[in-house]
Amino acid sequence: MIPIAKPLIGEEEKQAVMQVLESGMLVQGPRTAKLEEKFAAVCGVKHAIATSSGTTALHVALLAHGLGPGDEVITTPFTFIASVNSIIYAGARPVFVDIEEDTFNINPALIDAAVTSYTRAILPVHLYGYPCDMDTIMEIARRHNLVVIEDAAQAIGAEYRGKRVGSFGTGCFSLYATKNVMSGEGGMITTDDDALAQRCRMIRNHGMQRRYYHDMVGYNFRMSDLHAAIGLAQIDRLDEVTTRRRANAEYLNSHITSVVTPTVRPGYGHVWHQYTVRVDKSRDRDAAVKRLYDAGVGTGIFYPVPANKQAHLVEMGLGDVALPVAERLASEVISLPVHPQLSQADLQTIAAEVNKL
Ligand SMILES: Cc1ncc(COP(=O)(O)O)c(C=O)c1O
Repeated sequence: MIPIAKPLIGEEEKQAVMQVLESGMLVQGPRTAKLEEKFAAVCGVKHAIATSSGTTALHVALLAHGLGPGDEVITTPFTFIASVNSIIYAGARPVFVDIEEDTFNINPALIDAAVTSYTRAILPVHLYGYPCDMDTIMEIARRHNLVVIEDAAQAIGAEYRGKRVGSFGTGCFSLYATKNVMSGEGGMITTDDDALAQRCRMIRNHGMQRRYYHDMVGYNFRMSDLHAAIGLAQIDRLDEVTTRRRANAEYLNSHITSVVTPTVRPGYGHVWHQYTVRVDKSRDRDAAVKRLYDAGVGTGIFYPVPANKQAHLVEMGLGDVALPVAERLASEVISLPVHPQLSQADLQTIAAEVNKL
């Protein structure tokens, strides 16, 4: 079976973890600090703050911006649920704006109409590793005086017009096991704002600056040094894994003819966390997934249900909003393996089997 994802774990990762165990300094120690430093450099920002996951990175970022009850946050319905749940954890209300058919990302042309007197933030998601239209989103945010929190969980290293994602607004990344750069579990917040960075550091560690003096309510959202050590072994390989993902995507794009393949606009540096094709409605997606599985090609459906249609959001009264593009694409997408460990033979098999559909 060619898996949809395969974490790259070598001797370096194993040795790094053993060294931490032997050091006795297990949580938020020197490896976490080093990973933060490297992460900030990768994103071209002043500060990176490590957290226990991408979900907690989003949660902390929203709280650090002071978002809470009574505030509205504009976001996409076509994302992993954590983007939306983090808004709910903060006590704010998610407001969904439909997506663009060709990029799968929030449609900036529809954002203005969703802004109300309660809107405080926009939370765009760089889905599959493809950057959102950040010039337009930042212009809208400036005009309405809104905070921008980028969900870059899937997009480390992605560039919009030469600038890395996570450097436009407040960036939130995931280092979960299958991500392009991973630490097993982990997250990161990126910002140039000194005061915001300080608030994030406090919120992730029980509101503490001085040991056992708590200046605000915070959480235990710390990263362990065991996880940071894995992340450190990985982050130096970012360029290499991105290059391989790009080459794999290029191969698939030029060899798959039977379904709609992804496009990349000029000026957008895609990092191909996922390679996602579309089968139109007249075809049976479940049958296509099964045929690929039987032929040894693993797939993923990211995501089968738009966030507003998930049970808890329906219960909150947020289900009833017209998002026709997200709804249609949720029934059409199939992600194919694009990870750096694919061989030439794997790529040939994937393209051939998809073309047989
Ligand atoms: C778009 C998006 N946002 C947020 C997250 C949450 O990250 P984590 O799983 O590290 O909590 C993910 C993780 O898959 C994601 O894909």
